[in-house]
Amino acid sequence: MSTPDHFDILPAPANVADEAAKLVRETADHAQRQRGSFTLILAGGSTPKALYERLASEPGPIDWSRVTILQGDERCVGPDHADSNYRMARAALLDRVPIDPARVHRIRGELGPTAAAGAYDGILRATGPADLALLGMGADGHTASLFPGHDFARDAGKLAVPAAAPAGFAIADRVSLTLEALNRSTLILVLITGADKAAALARVRRERLSTAGNDALPMSRVRRGVRFLLDVAAAGTAAGTVASN
Ligand code: 6PG
Repeated sequence: MSTPDHFDILPAPANVADEAAKLVRETADHAQRQRGSFTLILAGGSTPKALYERLASEPGPIDWSRVTILQGDERCVGPDHADSNYRMARAALLDRVPIDPARVHRIRGELGPTAAAGAYDGILRATGPADLALLGMGADGHTASLFPGHDFARDAGKLAVPAAAPAGFAIADRVSLTLEALNRSTLILVLITGADKAAALARVRRERLSTAGNDALPMSRVRRGVRFLLDVAAAGTAAGTVASN
């Protein structure tokens, strides 16, 4: 039996950000005591911004000079573009903590999906697995930039790939870490808030209890043993903690 997922359901998005900050600090402190360093994959989108701000406002006990930063995905725009995930992370966190710039590995989306993915694949091979991967989920069940309809078979042996967001998303061309790259992280922490995510999350929770079929949502395909931090609106249930086998 694989490791069960763990669902923490908290009253509101601020509680999710508080709990996530606590878990990041604990994970970083443990990794730095054990190995002297901590590698973190940042999620994009809007949900993690409050988490990043909390980490910046109370930087300890993390030794930011020994933190390596990776991105889970990026839109194919420059780092100053309004839709850049890196831009959000830089403003909310990276410019506010004493991090070693040489240890911040930005996906260079401005190169275009194929070139940027190829370059980042090499960086991921050089840095090795992360201690912690942060992920979000869209209302369609995507995670990172792995959207429904993504050709997962083509990702075999790859750590970063070109990806595409469907119509309706601000930036179509993307770069995403693959399931293989995400799944090799020691811990995976998924932050999901808002009633608009409730339907996809309910389907993901069902799909994660069975063998993921060909139509399984991308979030359902991430390895088991994931820690989900949800608010009541997304979970559709009262606050509490559930471990699901
Ligand atoms: C992106 C993100 C993406 C995000 C979800 C949820 O580039 O859009 O990496 O995977 O986590 O779309 O986004 P929100 O947190 O904004 O709802």
